[in-house]
Amino acid sequence: MLKNFKLSQKFNILLLSAFLCAILLSGIAFSTLLNRDTEQEVTAKATILLKTMLAVRDYTSTQINPELAPRLETETEFLPQTVPGYSAREVFERFRSDQDYSDFFYKEATLNPTNLRDKADGFEADLVNRFRSSSTLKELTGYRSSPAGDLFYIARPIAIVKESCLRCHSTPEKAPKSQLTTYGSDNGFGWKLNETVGAQIISVPASGVRSTARKAFLLFMSIVIAAFVLVMIIINLLLRRSVIQPLNQMATAANEVSMGNMEAEFEQASNDEIGKLAAAFNRMKTSLIMAMSMLRDGEE
Ligand code: HEC
Repeated sequence: MLKNFKLSQKFNILLLSAFLCAILLSGIAFSTLLNRDTEQEVTAKATILLKTMLAVRDYTSTQINPELAPRLETETEFLPQTVPGYSAREVFERFRSDQDYSDFFYKEATLNPTNLRDKADGFEADLVNRFRSSSTLKELTGYRSSPAGDLFYIARPIAIVKESCLRCHSTPEKAPKSQLTTYGSDNGFGWKLNETVGAQIISVPASGVRSTARKAFLLFMSIVIAAFVLVMIIINLLLRRSVIQPLNQMATAANEVSMGNMEAEFEQASNDEIGKLAAAFNRMKTSLIMAMSMLRDGEE
């Protein structure tokens, strides 16, 4: 099939296929790199927040709880400030009140929570159950869609590792009276030592980072394609000037010579292979003229 194509067409088909391969490969490589970067960026953000929340929890259990615990026995109203989960949630709500972070979420999603706002939804319950079925599983990450766009989440299991937790989470009889007044006696009980009761889940928006990555990708691809188009144009111009036009001229001159016009010149415009060909044709034409005049002399 290629046989019937012109030289420039063959060249362009070859160039175009090489460029398409190069564009495809560089596109795949760049988008893989970008995706990895995006994932690393959101993971880093989520991890920092998760560690901060763990620190808040720890601060509450080691410094706030001992201060306020005696008041739990005497006061009629429960002091949620004694609860690590409550302080983590409250700190995070304050962090979220900043508009830049309103799409960030923190939840101690629990299957049977004391405070119903911590109840795991279907998606979260699934994560909790995966932690419950494998004690070696320490972290789950992934994307989840929300009305505000895609969220990247990191989830870690919450297990009851301290006996002290059971005071408020085993049976209503053991819990402080004030807790029952505030939260009732139906939820957040029956937890067992070493049981995984929920998952600490932090979610950070991924759509912002993703759209920046998408823009970078589009910019990169446009530059690559523009560069290739430019190269194609330059190569085509060069091909026409230094190969196709001289060859066409030579074909015309050879035609003229073959029809007896010995005045036709093979124009040698360069010293490259085409130029050498023109010089060779000129020598051939001279030999031809000599051979013909010798023939003519012989006849006479
Ligand atoms: C003084 C009683 C008390 C103790 C001790 C206690 N909790 Fe709680 N816990 C609560 C209350 C009350 C809540 C609900 C707080 C709120 O309003 O967010 C809660 C909430 C939680 C939550 C969030 C889900 C839910 O039930 O709403 C988790 C998880 C949790 N506690 C785990 C623990 C762990 C682990 C320990 C031991 C380190 C512990 N708790 C010790 C009373 C207690």
